[in-house]
Amino acid sequence: MNKIFLKQCYGEKTSPSPIWIMRQAGRYLPEYQAVRQKTDFLTLCKTPELATEVTLQPVDILGVDAAILFSDILIPIEPMGMELVFSEGKGPLLSPPIRSEADLKRLRPIEPEHDVPFVLETIRLLREALKEKVPLIGFAGAPFTLITYMVEGGSSKNFLHTKKMMFEAPALFHNLMSIVTETTIRYLKAQAEAGAQAIQLFDTWAGALSRKDYEEFVFPYSNRVLTALAQYNIPRIHFALNGSHLLPVTKKSACEVIGLDWRMDIPFCVDILGDSKAIQGNMDPCALFMPKSQLKDHVKSILEQGAKAKGHIFNLGHGVMPEIDQEKVKLLVELVHELS
Ligand code: CP3
Repeated sequence: MNKIFLKQCYGEKTSPSPIWIMRQAGRYLPEYQAVRQKTDFLTLCKTPELATEVTLQPVDILGVDAAILFSDILIPIEPMGMELVFSEGKGPLLSPPIRSEADLKRLRPIEPEHDVPFVLETIRLLREALKEKVPLIGFAGAPFTLITYMVEGGSSKNFLHTKKMMFEAPALFHNLMSIVTETTIRYLKAQAEAGAQAIQLFDTWAGALSRKDYEEFVFPYSNRVLTALAQYNIPRIHFALNGSHLLPVTKKSACEVIGLDWRMDIPFCVDILGDSKAIQGNMDPCALFMPKSQLKDHVKSILEQGAKAKGHIFNLGHGVMPEIDQEKVKLLVELVHELS
């Protein structure tokens, strides 16, 4: 099996350097579109054979060094007691939103084998299919990002209701975070037991908070999740999007790798992190619009900067977008391998 991804997570340098890409299975791939034409997104997530097929697509087509389970961070919220739909155009909708103690009573922590058996079955199928290929990454949303969807009822620009709860009803906020943390711990433990060989915790909206509020209201819960996974001896990746100002805090988390978005300057981050963590990232997804020669120089510079970190896994600073040409993504993978 190709172990360069796992090695760099633990700070062991490799040549070439590993690359995988957030949202590597997705709408920019015609092969993904073909599967999606026949089925809606949630059914795709809940059908192990199909979820396995689309997880494997980027491994075979692009030659990336890790696979990431095809699913969504919102999947465990449905069995907690909310209705989840993905509407064309509006994105995910969760109802009814959680805004009060009474709403909280409708929620229960999940039993993964019973509530999300399809996720665990997908992991088992993938491990079988990936035997001689690459490691499999499992994932979950971090508690704060998950509760933004639960409290807002879907995507949001300024997280008004979530931050209102945080400042106006902190006890309620903490209770909700505790319930979601317990679910996330159970969910990720079940993924590790089913065979996930690394996990990534996505805190997509952590950057909406000041460092002080993040440290008080959010970090303890994310870190509780990461700490609970220590027993599995698999690398843990902590990715807080838009979180350069949070690095002095996330640096303390129980993880092997810190994910960096494209706004962060790698040398600045390496200064803060020192030898404590490997890094993952961080090319701007839009840099894939660059012409080939320019892209080559850009990739080279990220690799040179990453080489100074404890370990470096090349990735984009956030998910690849549907508008990107598949050939460009293929080229990126080739460039990373060739230049490292
Ligand atoms: O990285 C991967 O390839 C693994 C699969 C994955 C998906 N979503 C597939 C997906 C992962 C790890 C996620 C995480 C996720 N989902 C996050 C955190 C990371 C991030 O991107 O910030 C968030 C916030 C979500 C919630 C979510 N799911 C949104 C906001 C959307 C977009 C809705 C839209 O209409 O564009 C989704 C849908 C989604 N998740 C798609 C995919 C491939 C697109 C679904 C489709 O085929 O239409």
